[in-house]
This record gives sequence, C-alpha cells and structure tokens, in this order.
Amino acid sequence: MSRLYVSTPIYYVNGDPHIGHAHTSIMADILKRAALMRGKECLLSTGTDEHGQKNQTAAEASGLSPQAYQDRQSALFRDLFDRLNVSYDVFARTSDPFHMEQVQEIERRLHAAGLLVQKPYRGLYCVGCEQFKKASDLDEQGRCVDHLVPPEEMDEVNYFMRIEPFRPWLIEHIENNPGWIQPNGFRNEVMGMLRQPLEDLCISRPRARVALGVPLPFDPDYVTYVWFDALINYVTNIGWPDERHAYWWPYSENLIGKDIVKTHCIYWPIMLRALGLTPPNRLSVHGYWIAAGGQKMSKSLGNAVDPVDIINLLGADALRFYLAKNMRTGSDSQIGASLIVSTYNTDLANKIGNLLSRVVKFTARHFDGKVPEGFSLSDEDHGLVEGIARTAAREHGAVTLHTIPSLVQEAVVIAETLNIYIDTTAPWTHIKNPDNRNRVGGVLYVLLDGLRLLFEMLSPVIPATAARGLIAIGADPIPLEARLHEFVPMRLSPGTPLGDDVNLFPRVQE
Ligand code: ME8
Ligand code: MG
Repeated sequence: MSRLYVSTPIYYVNGDPHIGHAHTSIMADILKRAALMRGKECLLSTGTDEHGQKNQTAAEASGLSPQAYQDRQSALFRDLFDRLNVSYDVFARTSDPFHMEQVQEIERRLHAAGLLVQKPYRGLYCVGCEQFKKASDLDEQGRCVDHLVPPEEMDEVNYFMRIEPFRPWLIEHIENNPGWIQPNGFRNEVMGMLRQPLEDLCISRPRARVALGVPLPFDPDYVTYVWFDALINYVTNIGWPDERHAYWWPYSENLIGKDIVKTHCIYWPIMLRALGLTPPNRLSVHGYWIAAGGQKMSKSLGNAVDPVDIINLLGADALRFYLAKNMRTGSDSQIGASLIVSTYNTDLANKIGNLLSRVVKFTARHFDGKVPEGFSLSDEDHGLVEGIARTAAREHGAVTLHTIPSLVQEAVVIAETLNIYIDTTAPWTHIKNPDNRNRVGGVLYVLLDGLRLLFEMLSPVIPATAARGLIAIGADPIPLEARLHEFVPMRLSPGTPLGDDVNLFPRVQE
C-alpha cells in the first residue's frame, strides 16, 4: 500500500483538550511520520465536533454566541496540536459550511432511498456520550459507566435510520476481514453487539430542544444527531461526494478510543454501506489513560492531566514519548505528571540526552569536533551497529497503533546498549595513550552512528528533538515528506563537523 489516510476522532468542544485527545492525535502523527519514512503518501485528519446537546449547553453557559464559543474552543484544540507538532493536513470542524452541506446531501440520499422513518421514541439518554443507553449499558447504580451520571429519560418524535437490514452484511465483513478492527478484543466485543437485532438509529433531534446542529434538509423542525454529523467528517475531509475522495478512502484508518467503538464499528460502516461507500480500511482502537485510582481521565470528571502544563515543563516531545511508550494494548494505562517527569528523566535525560552530550563533547575535545576519520572497527563494533539498524528497520516495518510502544521500548534498549558500550570501551581512558587514537576514533564512530540510527528511529515519536540530535552529530534530520528511509549502518561521513546543541533533555526536578 502506497498511501495512508489516518484520522482521529473529532473532539467535543464542550471542554478544553486533555491528555486523551492529545494521545490519539499524537499517535496519528507518529503513524503518519513513520509511513512517510516508508515512502507512503499520507493524509492526517483531526478536528473538533461542535454540534449537539452537550456543546450547546456549554456554549450557553459560556455566555458567548454558539459560533464564538465554537471558534474559541476549537482553537484550543488546534493550538494544542500545533504545539505538540501534530502534522495534521485537515483540521475538521463540523461547523464548516462544506461539511454541513454534505451532511444534508447524505440525508437527502438516505431519505430518498426510503431508509429514514419518523416515529416516537422513549429511552434513556447519556448527554456525556450523546447516545441512547440500554439498561444493560449502565452500572449497578444505573449510571453511564464512562460519565458516572444517570442518563436522562427522553420521550420524543425523531427520525430514525433502519440499520438492522445491514447486520448480516456487517457480520460477514468482520468475518472476512480479521484485521479490520484492531486489536482482537474489540472485534469480539463488536461481534457480541451484533448477536442481537440492531435498533433503529436515531438521526435527528427536535430543533426546539437542540438547536446547535445541521438542519435536516427535509424537515426544518429537526437538526441532525451529533454523531451522524460527526462521523461523516471522515469522508467530507477528503471531498466526498467529489470523486477525489476515492484517492484516499481505500487507505483510511480510523483511530479511536474504546469509548466510541460502537459508533465507529457498527453505525459508521452501515452509514457508509447505505451510501454505497466501502467501510474504512482499518479501525484501530486504544484504551484509556487513567488517573491514579483507576478512574478514566475525562473532562467531565475533572481528573485530567493538562497537556499544556507538561509541554511548558518538559517540552512537547517528553509528552509524545511518554504516551507512545506506555499505552498498553487491550487494557488501560496509568498517567500522571510525576510519571511523565520520571520517564523523561530516566529515558530521555539520562539514557539518551546524557549519552549524546558525552559523545559530542568528547569528540569536540579530542577529534576537533568532527566525525572521526581513519579509525579501526572490530567485528563486535560492526555487529553492534548492524544490530541497531536491523532493530530499527524491523520496528519501523511493523509499525501500527499497537506496536508504537514496542518501537519506543526497543529504542530505549538501544540507548542502554550504547551506554554500556561507552562504559566498557572507556574512551576517556584510552585517549590518554596516543597509540590508541584509531581505536578511540572507532569507538566514537560506533557511538555517533548508533545515535544517528537511534534518532532516526525515534524521529516519528520525538520529531523536534530527534532532528536536533541528528544535527548535533552531523547527520540530516528526517524531512516531513514522503521519502523512503532505509536504516543503513555506518552511514555517517567521517570528517563531518558536529553541532554543539547537546542539551536536548535537561534534567528536571521530580
Ligand atoms: O467522543 N484516554 O469526542 P470526545 C485515551 N466527538 N483517550 C482518550 C481519553 C482517555 N482518557 N479521553 C478521550 C467524542 N480520549 C466524539 C467523537 S468522532 C466522529 C466523534 C480520546 O471529545 C479518544 O480518542 O469525547 C476518545 O475516543 C476521544 O478522545 C473522545 O473524545
Ligand atoms: Mg467523550
């Protein structure tokens, strides 16, 4: 496959962005940058979901007009992703007129195809999820498991889409495409949901109750249900219904958190099917970042780590690194400011930054600040650098949302190996004897070239500091454009001057 269209959910603007939102957008960026290094063309979309009841309530509470509120909140997400170096190509906003027109176009088509019916409905509604709930979805106290509040009783006439007729097709699609929903646990969860008939999907809200939304084109008393409107961003981002959407859609990968599996793995493919479009190529699901105590971190619960605080304290790459390294597959993962600081100090400051600084300073003092020339390498030296190149190539070749942590952990192992190498070869001792100059030059070359491979390997994860690290050792940063990158050992050119920017990760008080 030569292309990748990777998308994140579009986030509600009823609160400020938190670590969870940063996570999915950073992972999308890592996948994009890694795919570019594999020579693929890439498109990354992220953005904000600006309609519906909870956004409307938040807008009203702010005292601003809905548009002013949406603009202010959406900008917070965009600014955060800019500061985090998320290289999005599309920043989707559901308040965008083109998007809104296409939502109406889709509704016109579904209406004309006879797939929409109007009828009364009574049910329990969680505003936090913007979804109807069944009693079986709630905890023992009758609360939404994610938002820990009881759902509201709702009784109103709405428009519904019949989705049950699509159930056999969806089951077959999942059976025929084992890797479609990743990881397997969520695939099984979805198959479980598909064992019973699917209730009609409510696609509208009475305008009298929820005004913030896309008006239904065939009934002005209603606006579009926020999820229906939001999911469609994945195709309006690439120009649907224009033919140009076909350039990207077959290569689409929707990244999502596990809170929104049902909407993405059931409603969304059925909506696409009803429109004559194929499902996304892949649905990749991650778990939650949870605060100490095991509770999901969320805006509604107020226990979130503020990504802006972390950026201000440690820089964007420290946060990217922590998130990339520590999200476990199939279970939730702990996060807190002190965990981020200690990972930063241990891995980035001590193992990587300190090594770089020692090597570059030593080279400046004893080798005129240039990659050594005329050195000798042992078989072990060759083996070490070749092994690093192989590990980097293997991890990059296999990279998916769920193997990003393995890539980072392997990079840390490489840093540990290089630290052991510098300690056992002890160049600062051997340099005292001029007869050892070639040997010490070889040791430095191994360290510099090993660091080069390490920074290249980590460049999708910590793009800004990896670029600085590469410049510091006289190598080229990885460009943000499609260009096949091979992890080739012994590529640093002897005689190349090094830089002097070696304090990439200053230690921080824990
Ligand atoms: O659901 N850990 O928006 P949302 C990890 N607008 N990821 C988390 C997280 C956590 N604790 N909390 C949030 C919506 N996320 C809809 C989506 S898409 C067509 C519409 C991330 O603001 C994760 O990606 O509630 C999750 O799925 C998403 O933010 C939910 O963001
Ligand atoms: Mg949510």
